[in-house]
Amino acid sequence: QQSHKLKGKKVVVTAGPTRERIDPVRFLTNFSSGKMGYAMAQAAAEQGAETILISGPVSLPAPEGVTRIMVESAEDMLNAVMAQYDDADYVIKTAAVADYRPQTIHSQKMKKQEGASTIELERTVDILQHLGNEKKGQVLIGFAAETNNVAQYAKDKLARKNADYIIANDVTESEAGFNSDNNRVTIFGKNGLEQTFELLPKQELARRLLQVIIEQEENHDR
Ligand code: PMT
Repeated sequence: QQSHKLKGKKVVVTAGPTRERIDPVRFLTNFSSGKMGYAMAQAAAEQGAETILISGPVSLPAPEGVTRIMVESAEDMLNAVMAQYDDADYVIKTAAVADYRPQTIHSQKMKKQEGASTIELERTVDILQHLGNEKKGQVLIGFAAETNNVAQYAKDKLARKNADYIIANDVTESEAGFNSDNNRVTIFGKNGLEQTFELLPKQELARRLLQVIIEQEENHDR
């Protein structure tokens, strides 16, 4: 378990949800608890990596041996990741980043009005895609939260986002995915790797996933 296979390597992990503000008291977010990403960071630190955890708002303590940077929005997360990217060896994007944010952030609390109300949304930057476009030898690992066609969508993401691995979870499973202590995933590699894991506690799963990735990287010349 603690074989220090990542000694001398820098691993950047993102975790948790992002918050996209509507006004001073309201925001858009999702159900990510940070557990899966924090487990990935802990597993990397256990392998001796210099581990940077870029975390959205969650209530978990930082794992031992990990440097944590707290962020709020998708834009904050993008900036924090890019500041760490150049000398990173592995980037693991476990965060559930908002795909949309309100077009305007109201500076005062929005007041109730008669009838329906509309919030215009605009796209955020896809951080994983951006990292894929700017890749210079980093090993890029994305997650995919899907509700259907899990394998197909995961493989699409692998190609489209220029990632080396995509770890796919079916988030309709009640025992796994968002906020659960356990997860069930399949890892897809750009070299054809496809390995499904049984339902496991996120910490154990994170160790096994990292082990598979380390082995793959040892066996493939990059
Ligand atoms: O935090 P937990 O409660 O433990 O839950 C874990 C999890 C279910 C959140 C996690 O296992 C997971 O699946 N994370 C990815 C969730 C997600 O946003 O999936 P996606 O299919 O929408 O995005 C695919 C990939 O693109 C992800 O690596 C994501 O980080 C990245 N992305 C997405 C949008 C965006 N604007 N920027 C991104 O980088």
